[in-house]
Parts: sequence; structure tokens; C-alpha cells
Amino acid sequence: MIQLGAQRPKAPAPDQLELRFSDKAIAELDALRTHYPTEKACILPGLWIAQREYDGYLSPAAIAEVAHRLHRSYAEVEGVATFYSMYTTAHQPGRHMIEVCTCLSCHMCGAYRIADYLEAKLGVKLGETTPDGVFTIHEVECLDACDRAPVLQVGDQYVGPVTEADIDALLDRLRNEDSSAVVQLADSIVQVHLRDTERAK
Ligand code: FES
Repeated sequence: MIQLGAQRPKAPAPDQLELRFSDKAIAELDALRTHYPTEKACILPGLWIAQREYDGYLSPAAIAEVAHRLHRSYAEVEGVATFYSMYTTAHQPGRHMIEVCTCLSCHMCGAYRIADYLEAKLGVKLGETTPDGVFTIHEVECLDACDRAPVLQVGDQYVGPVTEADIDALLDRLRNEDSSAVVQLADSIVQVHLRDTERAK
């Protein structure tokens, strides 16, 4: 199993930078530049593009590419990426990230019972990825869906109020889905940024 919070590998040296953005990603970044007043302001959407382009993981190489393309320092971009929990910077996540809200409303409605059940079913702890690389489970703060407590988030979908039976069905369904919910979520957020950019013109 892979433990979140392990020491991050170092940033690649400038002469070892391997740029990996697709033509589509470069065009998206160019479109964002036309809206925001500075390249610094493009860091957040730029990181979402990178999270999609790098298979759901903001590795040091991914962060270095964003810094390079936006003419910012590595430290500045890494500081942003590691501040927000929506970005995946600790290690390569599983194909499906299951986020368990344990904030007040969910806590009162049995969030830790749900977390315990998930841990037992998958054989990993919160913050870990299953050895087959299919699931990462992650504890998060309020998902702003308190009316559905206890609630899980998978990609851009909420599941709640969730029961143990729902989890059994969810895991069975996700195991058979080849596409990565982590990558899909990153792409959805990039598209929202681009739509907002168009509307604001
Ligand atoms: S407390 Fe869980 S969604 Fe708000």
C-alpha cells in the first residue's frame, strides 16, 4: 500500500524538464491567459490542466511544467498545489478517489462508521491506495452537501446519504470502470474555467 504524506521527490532540474502537455492543454492554457490579468492568476486552472495531463497526479514534473509555462518559480506553484487538498500531490492516486467527509454533519450521521467499512472492504487506511491501484480513500472536510450526510465524493459525483450496502454497490461499479474519475474531475474543472473565461469576454 502507498502512504499519503511520504516525502515528496525533489523538483526536476531545469535541464531535466520533460514537457508533457498535449496540444489541447497548451491551447487551453493560452485561452486562460487571455482572460486573466497575469500568468500568476492562471496557476489554479493551470494545475487542473496538469492534473488531467499527468493522469491525476501533480508530480514534481507536473508542477515544474506549470511553473515553466507560466513563468513562475517552482516553489510558488508547488506552494499553491500543496495548499489545496483538491490537488493530488502526495502520490499517484488510484483510478478512483473516494473522498469521505468526516466534518460535523457527516460525523453526526456516521461518517466514521462509513470510513471504517471502506477501510475494511478495501484493506487500506484513509489516505492510502489499494495495491492494485484502483482505489484511494481520503478523508476530507465539508463537501457542502450536508443535507446528504454521511456523504462521499467520487469524481464529480456525490453519494449520500450513503450506507454500507451503497458502498458495496459503488465499489462493484467502479471496479468495472476503466476511466479514471480523478482525471475526469480535473477535465470537468478545466472546462468550467474555460466556459467562465468565454462568458467573461
Ligand atoms: S459535513 Fe459532510 S458535507 Fe458537510
